[in-house]
Amino acid sequence: MATDESQARVVSGMRPTGKLHLGHLAGALRNWVDLQARYDCMYFVADWHALTSEYAATGEVAGYGYDNVADWIAAGIDPERSTIFVQSLVPEHAELFLLLSMVVPIPWLERVPTHKEQMEQLADRDLSTLGFLGYPLLQCADVIMYRARYVPVGEDQVPHLELAREVVRRFHGFFGELFPEPQPLTTHFPRLPGIDNRKMSKSYGNTIDLSDDAETVRRKVMRMYTDPKRIRADIPGTVEGNPVFTYHDAFNPDAEEVEDFKRRYRAGTVGDVEVKRSLARAINAVLDPLRERRAELLARPGRIREIVLDGSSRARAIARETMAEVRDAVRLAY
Ligand code: TRP
Repeated sequence: MATDESQARVVSGMRPTGKLHLGHLAGALRNWVDLQARYDCMYFVADWHALTSEYAATGEVAGYGYDNVADWIAAGIDPERSTIFVQSLVPEHAELFLLLSMVVPIPWLERVPTHKEQMEQLADRDLSTLGFLGYPLLQCADVIMYRARYVPVGEDQVPHLELAREVVRRFHGFFGELFPEPQPLTTHFPRLPGIDNRKMSKSYGNTIDLSDDAETVRRKVMRMYTDPKRIRADIPGTVEGNPVFTYHDAFNPDAEEVEDFKRRYRAGTVGDVEVKRSLARAINAVLDPLRERRAELLARPGRIREIVLDGSSRARAIARETMAEVRDAVRLAY
C-alpha cells in the first residue's frame, strides 16, 4: 500500500447518461484536473452504473461514454498521466461486487439516502431492481479494486463512501485486511443552477454544455433567469441566489468586474444585458481552449477509442492482481 501521498491513488467515475455541462466542469472536472498533479489518478466511465437507471434504453450509453471522455480530455485530463477507462471493460468490477454482495446486509443498502431519493425522483421507472439497490456496492467495488485512498465526489455521494468503508470493514472481518478505507474528497462548490434557475438537469433542457458553440452559449446566457422584479435597469436588483451572478462567480476570473457588477446591480445602475454579455464572454473564454482541444482530438479518428482501450487494459492489469489476492483471501483458490 502506498504511503507516500504522491503515490496515493485517486479514483472517480461519471455515469454516461448525457453530455457534460458547466455543472460538471465546476463541480468535478476542474478538481479532477488539479488532482493529477498530486496523485495517481484513475477516472472512469461508470457505464454499468448508468444502466441501473437506464436499463430500458441502453442505446446511447456507449456514445455518451466516448463523448464524456472527449470532454474530460478537452478539460485537461491527460491520458498519459491519468488512467482513463470504461467500467464494463474491466469485468473484474462485477466479480468483486458479487463477492461483496455475499456479506452486505440488504438494509445497509436500503438506508443509503440516495436510494430512496432517486426512487422518488425517477418515479417513472421501476427501480425496485437488484442492480439499482446494489448501486453503492458497485461503487465500493470500483474504488477498492484500485486501493483508492481518495474519491473525489459531490456532497450527495458522501454516504456512498461511508457505506464503502463499512463494507470494507465487514469484508475484512471475514477474510482479513485487503483494502484501505476510501475517503471522500468533496468539492465545496456551490451547486450551479440551470439557466432557468431550477436544478440543472439535461431533462429540463436548462444546461450549458461543454460542447455548445459560442453562439449557443451567448443565446442561453441572454435568456438566463435573473431577478424577475427588475423590469427596468434602474430598479435595484438581488444578487444572492441570482444565477447570473452564481455563474459570474464560477467562471469570470475578473473578480473586480464581478464586484462592480454586483454593486451596480444592487444600486440599479447597470442593465441585465451588460451583465449577461460579459458573462457570455467569460464562459466562452473558459470554453474556448476546451473547444480547441476537443476539435484536435476529434480530428484524429479512433483516437478516443484508442485512449479508452489502452487505459482500460492498464486498469484491468491492476484489477486482475487485486482479484487474485481477493480470491486467495476468500479461499477460492483452485
Ligand atoms: N455514483 C457516482 C455519481 O453519480 C458515479 C460513480 C460510480 C463513482 N462509481 C464511482 C464516483 C466510483 C466515484 C467513484 O456521481
